[in-house]
Amino acid sequence: MTLGTRLLAALLILLPAAGARSAEPAPAEGPASLAARFEEAFAAGDYAKALALAEKRNEIVEEPHLAALYDIARARAMLGSPDESYEALKRAADAGFSDVSRIRKDPAFRELLEEERFRSLVRGIWARAYLAMLERPERADFQKPDQVMKALAMRPGERVADIGAGSGYFTIPVAKAVGPGGVVWAIDIAQEMLDHIAKRLERERLTNVRLVKVSKDDPQLPPQGVDTILMVDTIHYVQDRTAYARKLRAGLAPGGRLVVIDYVPKPFEERPWGPLPEQQVAREILDAEMAAAGFTVLRAHDFLTEQYFVEYSTDAAPAGGPAPAPPPR
Ligand SMILES: C[S@@+](CC[C@H](N)C(=O)[O-])C[C@H]1O[C@@H](n2cnc3c(N)ncnc32)[C@H](O)[C@@H]1O
Repeated sequence: MTLGTRLLAALLILLPAAGARSAEPAPAEGPASLAARFEEAFAAGDYAKALALAEKRNEIVEEPHLAALYDIARARAMLGSPDESYEALKRAADAGFSDVSRIRKDPAFRELLEEERFRSLVRGIWARAYLAMLERPERADFQKPDQVMKALAMRPGERVADIGAGSGYFTIPVAKAVGPGGVVWAIDIAQEMLDHIAKRLERERLTNVRLVKVSKDDPQLPPQGVDTILMVDTIHYVQDRTAYARKLRAGLAPGGRLVVIDYVPKPFEERPWGPLPEQQVAREILDAEMAAAGFTVLRAHDFLTEQYFVEYSTDAAPAGGPAPAPPPR
């Protein structure tokens, strides 16, 4: 072999290795592609492959791995691993996953949602999202809580039932306004809301609020024991409002008032939040329902842009007339 032939042979041996060394590494597959391939594998029923793809995505994505964790939970559920599915769903929830309706509609969780731990996990996700919705700072732009409180003119010592108290959005300012001589019943059907209010009361060192968990058709008011019943964004949840209003009436002390703030009906395209169109209650309908229970309009305030704000009484005071003073205590 001549020197030239030997050099050529050596070059041929080295070339592939040199080529391999100089080639750019193949770019890593991105989260979007992994997510798309997950859906393909999931739809094809290859849950093991889907799981591997979701786990890979979970390793590479930064910031809360919500979607990847959710997909891991789905794939684990389909692979018959409820414990691991629960763990992944819980991790997604802890990272901020909040799409409860997606979980409830997802066939992967249909059977698991019959288990208490899954149900309570989903309920916790719902409560956190609901509380965040109620407390969103931009709500104040239309809810105008300070102006509402001013219009309500709560008196020290007043006894108030905040029905559908939610996060305590109004419970807390009302409790401050009526002071230690007054009392506020924070009433709700959801224990999670009351638990949240309990924490706020502790932080604010307020001791004049009683938490009452009720069923949806009975506010459990003390007979003739309440000066003001406040229902903000809640009356639209009540099915038979006239029957309910009769119970409210039985709880009102002489001269008491029922205050309702609720959404003016609007199509979803105009206001894609708030109660669903089928839940919305027009003011005229509410007035008629309340009238059937013996309430008349005492006064209506018109400074809210999304809601009506009406004070009703059971005494036939003229609309626009003065609010009756709470009875002496
Ligand atoms: C949209 S939130 C309003 C909360 C609060 N009033 C506010 O303005 O932020 C409605 C609340 O009413 C509660 N709720 C719904 N139906 C109810 C009923 N029939 N009796 C008592 N509370 C009810 C819900 O659990 C929820 O906390």
